[in-house]
Amino acid sequence: MSRVAYVNGRFVRHADAAVHIEDRGYQLADGVYEVWAVFDGKLIDSTGHFERLKRSLGELRIAAPMGEAPLNLVLAEMVRRNRVRTGLVYLQVSRGAAPRDHAFPVRPTAPAIVITAKSIDWPAAQARAASGIAVITVPETRWARCDIKTIALLPNVLAKQAAREQGAGEAWFVDELGLVTEGASSNAWIVDKDGSLRTRDLNANILRGITRRSLIDLAAAEGLELSETPFTPEDARTAREAFITGAGTLIMPVVRIDGEKIGDGRPGPVATRLRDLYLRHARATAA
Ligand code: PDD
Repeated sequence: MSRVAYVNGRFVRHADAAVHIEDRGYQLADGVYEVWAVFDGKLIDSTGHFERLKRSLGELRIAAPMGEAPLNLVLAEMVRRNRVRTGLVYLQVSRGAAPRDHAFPVRPTAPAIVITAKSIDWPAAQARAASGIAVITVPETRWARCDIKTIALLPNVLAKQAAREQGAGEAWFVDELGLVTEGASSNAWIVDKDGSLRTRDLNANILRGITRRSLIDLAAAEGLELSETPFTPEDARTAREAFITGAGTLIMPVVRIDGEKIGDGRPGPVATRLRDLYLRHARATAA
């Protein structure tokens, strides 16, 4: 069966799906997106992703393309039509198509919505988690509103490419204070020398990760000590463990930073336990 995309109210063959050449997302990155992980054919942490989508749209004054209930149905239908058991659903909303002008269109345009869904190779993802990934650090070059999940991702694109060229799976941005903010497409965590979980607080210029939020609750239920305090690349180098969180990778152990081993260079017990806990939570709550 060929893949199916959803474009402005219609399910179409993925190969035939297209948007207007003056879509403001295409020309100006004037849009937002969300990514849901799919487990057992159902969405993980779906409420959090819906709430963040609403917030991102509101911050940019883009109208919601449809209500939450119909959107939920469309997302479920996309998972079904693409036969996704384990995978990802991607949704993008732009301000719509209009003659190019930086300011908002004078004549109101309907927001444009595109949704895709794809399966991921779960055994390969599990194997990656079993060996852990490397990260590199790069200077923070993004705008000051990283709390909005916009499709304007050039610094993230360049950071991820730099990581790939150095054999790493993620790049961590480091701000002007020398502190790690987050990854190019994930939140950054360490288990510090004292055994505390550390991740950047939400007053910092980071995306409010939905996986991060769920993991904080799971860690608290486990009685793990957590402090939302920043850390430096040096703290990460000397940490017991490190890992990243995000819908794309769930909980993924980090075993090297800028070419140096973290701990013994293998996924640590805390990251491994948290991944297991998160997978259990995902299976139990997927909807
Ligand atoms: N990225 N930080 C950034 C910059 C991100 O792009 C993401 C997610 C996260 C983690 O957020 P969440 O736990 O809600 O997925 C943090 C998605 C997966 C992507 O761009 O594909």
